[in-house]
Amino acid sequence: MNTTVNQQDRNHDIVLEDGFLLTALKNRRSISRVAEQEPPEALIRTMIEAATWAPNHHLTEPWRFFIFRGDARARLGAVMGDAAARRETDADKAEAARGRMAPKPLRAPYVIAVAAEPDASDRTFEIEEIAATAAATQNMLLAAEALGLGAIWRSGWVTYCDEVREFLGLTEQATVLGFVYVGYTSLPAAARVRQPTEAVTTWM
Ligand SMILES: Cc1cc2nc3c(=O)[nH]c(=O)nc-3n(C[C@H](O)[C@H](O)[C@H](O)COP(=O)(O)O)c2cc1C
Repeated sequence: MNTTVNQQDRNHDIVLEDGFLLTALKNRRSISRVAEQEPPEALIRTMIEAATWAPNHHLTEPWRFFIFRGDARARLGAVMGDAAARRETDADKAEAARGRMAPKPLRAPYVIAVAAEPDASDRTFEIEEIAATAAATQNMLLAAEALGLGAIWRSGWVTYCDEVREFLGLTEQATVLGFVYVGYTSLPAAARVRQPTEAVTTWM
């Protein structure tokens, strides 16, 4: 197996050869701390394109991506902070909750909100639109791994609140699946283990 990835230049000129995908999908780890330096826009565009090659029933392409960088991250944080404050009845607690929540999107130079906007026709099932968008999100994470970027899929209640959905201009039928935080990382990924496949597989 000869895997060629230009990690030095961190460009997106990737040569896919035998075994590359399997290696990338096993090596991909959630990276929670990344540098402030903004990776080139082209790498983010490559991640989005990778996402759009996910399988999707009836070719509905239900995924929507919202890319936050620079000050836009603070605007997202303000909406999330408002939502956090609104959950509290006590004014001091509300401000404290806002203060904890609002800076969260500043943890990476790029934050990509991913949402499923279900097809309006009655041929689709909501779960399939969400499943396709989850597959697209995994494609993004794998692309980040291939491009030498660190990424993590983040969620929490704020992901699913009306305030965020409305801020993104989505319909009431849409589901926000999460936020992919992306940036350069120099830290080694935490080691992870998975159960043996036998534990989760039944051969019939
Ligand atoms: C739907 C979803 C939501 C997640 N939300 C968070 C999150 O809010 N915070 C976080 O630290 N990790 C989050 N993760 C990442 C998982 O914690 C991570 O995938 C898991 O620990 C396994 O580690 P690995 O991705 O490095 O294999 C989420 C993953 C998924 C699929």
